[in-house]
Amino acid sequence: MIDKDSGTSSSFPPEVAAEVAEMVLAGATSYEGAEEQVRQFEEAAAAAFGARHCLAVSSGTAALYLALSALGVSTGVEVISPAYSFFRTASPVMHLGGSLVLADSLRDNENVDPAAVEACITPRTEGIVVVHWAGHVCDMEAIWRIAERHSLWVVEDAAHAHGAHHRGKPLGEGRSDAVCYSLQAKKLVAAGQGGLLCTASPDLWETALLLGYFRPRLAQDVAGAVRRPFVHSGLGLNFQIAPLGLPLARYCLQRLEQVIAARADYALALDRALATSRFLAPPHSYPYATRQSHYMYRPQVRPEVDEELADAYLAALAEAGVPIARKRDVIMADEPMYRGQWDGRWRADVPGPVLNARRLSAHSTDLRLANVWDAALAARLTGAIGDIEESFARLAARVSP
Ligand SMILES: Cc1ncc(COP(=O)(O)O)c(C=O)c1O
Repeated sequence: MIDKDSGTSSSFPPEVAAEVAEMVLAGATSYEGAEEQVRQFEEAAAAAFGARHCLAVSSGTAALYLALSALGVSTGVEVISPAYSFFRTASPVMHLGGSLVLADSLRDNENVDPAAVEACITPRTEGIVVVHWAGHVCDMEAIWRIAERHSLWVVEDAAHAHGAHHRGKPLGEGRSDAVCYSLQAKKLVAAGQGGLLCTASPDLWETALLLGYFRPRLAQDVAGAVRRPFVHSGLGLNFQIAPLGLPLARYCLQRLEQVIAARADYALALDRALATSRFLAPPHSYPYATRQSHYMYRPQVRPEVDEELADAYLAALAEAGVPIARKRDVIMADEPMYRGQWDGRWRADVPGPVLNARRLSAHSTDLRLANVWDAALAARLTGAIGDIEESFARLAARVSP
């Protein structure tokens, strides 16, 4: 079976627990008292993610909220977002009063299709939010070209994509206005709860700081003349990171390269094992995704496979020790909160039928990857896939060619 340090979360060694205990004993339990730990973590994250400025906040959702607020999302502003994502990718748009427009996925993976994004643009559109789903990098060059053509801002939801690269470079490249990470417990860099807003813009960084922090930090870090008068109160909200999770996040950051490399090796072995499967297709990646984070490994049930047969095949794999399960994500376009069912105010506009997002979600599975490479484990997993494939071969007559 897969080891303890597996799935999408890390297990932490006693030294990390001891660091947390030291902070508790030193009274470093909120920003005041833990200023140095927060500063050091922001610097380490900025270096790891190739960002000029990095702000540690209370969640990935908070990072998105702050970025979108700083970019001016408010009543009447249209924002295009992927139909396929976790609902928090775009909920800040609604809370800021903006209008959410959902665009379909690519044919072969869950990420948003740049052509679908462009088809959603209207004179009221001001920005695009993309998500690097499962750690697969989006076609950012295409997104940036669209944004340049229509003078739109771009925010990347990188909740799944710590350490990922697009065309050989870390995410954002100074061409996106902000890249937002979640530090929630399951993520590759995990603080329990937390988030990071990365940006190349000192203005956006300062405005986000003003929105989420208050005096002690603002007096020191806010330099802009327009923002100086507000250093006492900030803008009244509180999105400060809870610092007790920082030793955990720092530990994850230190071993991120190693974890990504291990996951990439498992993904490669599984891709090869599934390449000829009649039942499952390995996740599709594109050449511009030069380094994926492999946060999740999501093979697709081949659409031509009978549902019952697919379920039996997945159950047999699970029985043989392959940690796989059917997923069937609820796409954002189908969430009641985006369908006007809360108080009628929040209703995402879904201009197209989002058929790719629906098909991909209906056929999704999740296979948990370990964080540490173990050749024997990889051999067991791929061997089990080969064996089950063979034993299901006689049922394959029920599968259309
Ligand atoms: C794609 C995506 N975006 C945003 C978020 C929000 O992050 P958080 O839970 O830290 O608020 C998540 C959380 O899992 C996510 O999966």
